[in-house]
This record gives sequence, structure tokens and C-alpha cells, in this order.
Amino acid sequence: MTDQYERSAEFVDVMLAPAWTALAPVLTEALRGAPGPVVDVGAGGGHGVRVIAQALPRAEIFAVEPSPGLRAVLLARVDEDPDLRDRVTVLPNGLLQATLPPRLGTLVAMNVIGHFDPAERRTIWRLLAERLLPDGRAVLNLQPPAEPVAVPHTRFSELRIGRRRYEGWGRAEPAGPERITWHMTYRAFQDGEPAEEVEVEYAWWILGPDRFKAELAEHDLHVTPTGPTDLGLWSITRSPV
Ligand SMILES: C[S@@+](CC[C@H](N)C(=O)[O-])C[C@H]1O[C@@H](n2cnc3c(N)ncnc32)[C@H](O)[C@@H]1O
Repeated sequence: MTDQYERSAEFVDVMLAPAWTALAPVLTEALRGAPGPVVDVGAGGGHGVRVIAQALPRAEIFAVEPSPGLRAVLLARVDEDPDLRDRVTVLPNGLLQATLPPRLGTLVAMNVIGHFDPAERRTIWRLLAERLLPDGRAVLNLQPPAEPVAVPHTRFSELRIGRRRYEGWGRAEPAGPERITWHMTYRAFQDGEPAEEVEVEYAWWILGPDRFKAELAEHDLHVTPTGPTDLGLWSITRSPV
């Protein structure tokens, strides 16, 4: 599979960190009492793995991350923490290629579902319907836009590390009835002067709440919103909660 993060991995983990300040307590609450083993889909640099490990202190975790650049961050983050090192396995594949445990307690998919096309999503829903433990659950977020519309150029991240200030910018345009293309620009300034600029594109499949609920109903899966609406988190179970 193509690694859409090949050139941006350097910036992505640090730029996602502020988003995790808001996501962490909501994901923690959504995972309360959830069984292991846990699969973190598209674990990136491991912000979510840390939250999962704290929320479920005895669960075994499989962190699936296909991008070598982000996986290097993830592996280092896991290696530096004795608890994570003991119970997190890093799998270097896409979700649909990864060898997962036969039964899944919990599947977490944060900031990633738009990377899967409709057929791949169906495979994921089937995996949940067939392999989730009876009391298991999946937790994921749906990110805007919910329709294939243009998103104006917006700065979504800014941070300073040492003498460098980093900015992440993004805009999107429709790329078909169910898809948008994100055009991202990552910039670094040193002592106020432009020092580095990386431009990348990500293909993103649109999934709004109505379509999401309909797809899950087709697989006899039950879905409930969880946490503040603007974070877009949902919990999926095999039986009504
Ligand atoms: C926006 S990042 C989110 C990372 C992490 N979940 C977080 O929220 O910090 C999306 C991640 O999904 C991964 N990804 C893309 N396609 C994937 C696939 N088919 N299976 C698993 N992960 C995938 C990317 O490599 C990237 O790490």
C-alpha cells in the first residue's frame, strides 16, 4: 500500500499531540470496562496507545501502523515505557493485512477511518461482527466534513520546539461523490525565518453519521455517540447498550 505519510511523518506526531489533549479523557471514558485484547488501528506515533494502556491497565494491545516513519515514532515511544514494552505489539501492516488475534476485545480507530474506501470499511464492519467478543466494543471518530465539500486553507496546528516554530496547514477539495483530497503544508521557521516546507496530499473517504449508522446496521452492529459531539466519537457494540 502507498504510504501517504512518507514525507510528513516527521511532523504528524507532534502536530497531533494537542488534539489528543481533548481526545484522551473522552477515549478513556469510552473504554471504561472494555475487554482486551485491544487493536489500535493506524496507531500513528502512539498517542492513542498511551491512552488505551492507561485506561485498560491489564489489556494486551496490538498497534497496527503501516507507515514506516510513524511506526518508528511508535516503536520508540513503546520501547521507552516498561509497561508499554511489556504488553504492546507493533504490527507493520495495514489493518486488512495484519495478523490479529482470532477474537477481539476492543478495536480503536482514531483519526483514521477516512483512509478506508467503502469496500474496505465493509470488511472492517464484518471483522467486528464476526470477531468482536460478545461484550467487546469498537471506538472510532468520524472527522468532518460529512459531505465531499471544499474546506478552505486553515492552520490546524502551531508549536515551537527549540528555535523552530512549526505550522500545519490544510485545505481540501472534492475528489468524487464520496472522497476529498486533503492538501497539507507543513512549515518550519527558524528564528522567524522560513526554514523548511513540505507539501503532501491525503486521499480521504467521506463518512457521515447517517451512512455510518446504516452500514453498521447492515452488519447487526449497534452504534452510540460518546463524548462531546464536536469530537465525533462513536462506540460500536454487538448488542444494544
Ligand atoms: C491521521 S493519522 C492518526 C494516527 C493516530 N491514530 C492518532 O490519532 O494519533 C492516520 C494513521 O492511519 C494510518 N493508516 C493509513 N491507512 C491505514 C490502513 N489501511 N490500516 C491501518 N492504518 C492505516 C496512517 O499510517 C496513520 O498513521
